Amino acid sequence: MPPQNPIPALLARGPGHQFVVYGDCCSGIPGTPFEANFAAVNAALRRIDPQPEFILFAGDHIQGMTDDAPTLRSQWRHFFEREMAWLDRKAVPFYSATSNHNTCNAVSEAVWREVFTDLPRNGPPEQQGLSYWVRRGDLLVVVANTSFTGLGGQAHVECAWLDRVLAENADARHKLVMGHHPIWPVNGYTEAPGWCIERGQGQAMWRVLVARGVTAYLCSHIIAFDAQEHGGILQLTTGGAGTSYGPGGFMDGPAEYHHFVQAALDGQGLRCQTIDPQGRARERVEWRPGAGLVQGVVDGDA
Ligand SMILES: [Fe+2]
Repeated sequence: MPPQNPIPALLARGPGHQFVVYGDCCSGIPGTPFEANFAAVNAALRRIDPQPEFILFAGDHIQGMTDDAPTLRSQWRHFFEREMAWLDRKAVPFYSATSNHNTCNAVSEAVWREVFTDLPRNGPPEQQGLSYWVRRGDLLVVVANTSFTGLGGQAHVECAWLDRVLAENADARHKLVMGHHPIWPVNGYTEAPGWCIERGQGQAMWRVLVARGVTAYLCSHIIAFDAQEHGGILQLTTGGAGTSYGPGGFMDGPAEYHHFVQAALDGQGLRCQTIDPQGRARERVEWRPGAGLVQGVVDGDA
């Protein structure tokens, strides 16, 4: 049954995929402004018609940033049993990325593995359940852990496993890679490791993504919507799910609007629209491999 006040989804032109990507609400705690922001973004998401085939969440689901396991479990319970209770995850798979708020120490990594029992255990041996990949027909989605405590913590990543997975799935027509941290700076947030992945590791990862023909790297961490092309592939940043400012107030630039990204991927490329909490399409990006990036504002006040 179509939703009330439907928001038309961008659809694949022929064979392809229609999905949502969003991230960064730092919620899981009742009664906070972030919870209200996230609820408003989800209210708009529920109006997308047709509903997405799957949802990618690029990290910082919960406030986290603690090594107290009961607190983490309580935040995850609130996140999934209240805030995301509207989503039938059996019908619409929900693929999540680790992040600095969610998995910042060994305890929170262990709680993540308890919570996400449904994610494939096909990552690097020491990062099982933290990095993983899924195949959906001709689409490969690789989710890279960019916060592994065994590798230096937040904004670090390994790419030997990533390269192998991409090579073994070379037949996939479409390849998306998601991690929490941007590789290329967004809105002047250049610190690496920190706002961006550590420079040497990030550059190594980008070379792998380019060499293996990935369509786009999807990330979050910066409270913004941003699209950049480097070396013929796309970095798409979406950190609009509800967080209002950076951890500790470090993110002092002008706030961008909250949003989620609805996307269509097909033989001609990737098209995205941002939808704000009022259900308005605000920005639109079209990515045509080999032809570049077309970026347009839909709504004049975006
Ligand atoms: Fe983050």
